[in-house]
Amino acid sequence: MKQKTIIRGKVHYVGVNDRTKHLFEGLWPLPYGVSYNSYLIDDGKVALIDTVDICYFEVFLHKIKAVIGDRPVDYLIINHMEPDHSGSISLIKKYYPNITIVGNKQTFGMVEGFYNISPDHQLLIKNGDSLDLGYHKLRFYLTPMVHWPETMMTFDETEGLLFSGDGFGAFGTLDGGFIDSNMNVEIFWDEMRRYYANIVGKYGSAVQKALEKLTPLPIKAICSTHGPVWIDQIEKVIGIYDKLSRYEGEEGVVIVYGTMYGNTEQMAEAIALELSAQGIKNIILHNANKRHHSYIIADIFRYKGLIIGSTTYCNHLFPEIDSLISKILTRDMKDRYLGYFGSFSWSSAAVKRLAEFAEKSKFEIVGDPVDMKMAIDDNIYEQCEKLGRAMADRLKKDR
Ligand code: FEO
Repeated sequence: MKQKTIIRGKVHYVGVNDRTKHLFEGLWPLPYGVSYNSYLIDDGKVALIDTVDICYFEVFLHKIKAVIGDRPVDYLIINHMEPDHSGSISLIKKYYPNITIVGNKQTFGMVEGFYNISPDHQLLIKNGDSLDLGYHKLRFYLTPMVHWPETMMTFDETEGLLFSGDGFGAFGTLDGGFIDSNMNVEIFWDEMRRYYANIVGKYGSAVQKALEKLTPLPIKAICSTHGPVWIDQIEKVIGIYDKLSRYEGEEGVVIVYGTMYGNTEQMAEAIALELSAQGIKNIILHNANKRHHSYIIADIFRYKGLIIGSTTYCNHLFPEIDSLISKILTRDMKDRYLGYFGSFSWSSAAVKRLAEFAEKSKFEIVGDPVDMKMAIDDNIYEQCEKLGRAMADRLKKDR
């Protein structure tokens, strides 16, 4: 049993898989589920790094006991307080009443606020402090806003393991293996982008600061709170997070539209056809009514070009487009090329609203907006082609 859970040295994987929940944070679909990773260091002193969602406490405790038997856990290191990881703190404290909780100044207010745990047995650490467990020596790095203000990362200097909290995380359960070299990790790349874009995406500059602090370390494995333990693919994983947190888009265009009867969709098709004719290969059309916005946001993070279309609805934007642009603004997305188009039957409003969004977004506007009355004709078709051409030309300038 013990052998199967070892990562390196005396570090064990004791996380759990959630294949039950439909929506992460009550918002984001989980087609492949999600793992809540926790790590146990079975050293002279026993340390647990983060806990799991409270629904999985029994399974979690069983995994801990399978490694350490009746020995107590000496330290609980809290890298992150969001309840998908902190949910089992109260019960862990009940099972191990003498456990010392390790966290920073921001952590303990949350421990008290969420779980009413008084400040006894606490070890307050600052950036750069260390903790010696016997064989393993841990050093703490504060990484605020990756993804909450209290977030920190713990580096095991003995074996080169970075316990990174949500950083470098991905949706998807760990089916069998938990180390990347022992599993097929294909599904995790898209799920990592979707996780980043929707959960951590607002905090690009905080992620950049954390990367500056951490990438000089001799990292041999990244142990995140979600998804595989990364050993073989460290470079790729850091590369994805680096690129996303710089808001660096690849060549490609996301065309997203809200339509009732398909007329606005015909404008999107015309734009896409012209983009393709101009040599742009990555073109993704999303019907915002049908596709969950988490996938659309992930694609917007991935590609440099964005074209948004909306029919006029109640003298406003189509509701799903209204909701989507609010999500884009909330994430403080930067450096995108933006085109837009709309339609109406008797009174034009969508294009005006999209112009307001364009101004707020600070994206670079490309081409002329197209506003269509009722249905597509040759004139509107040509204007859509012109918009597609303008976007293709702008993207090609970056080649
Ligand atoms: Fe996985 Fe921010 O919690």
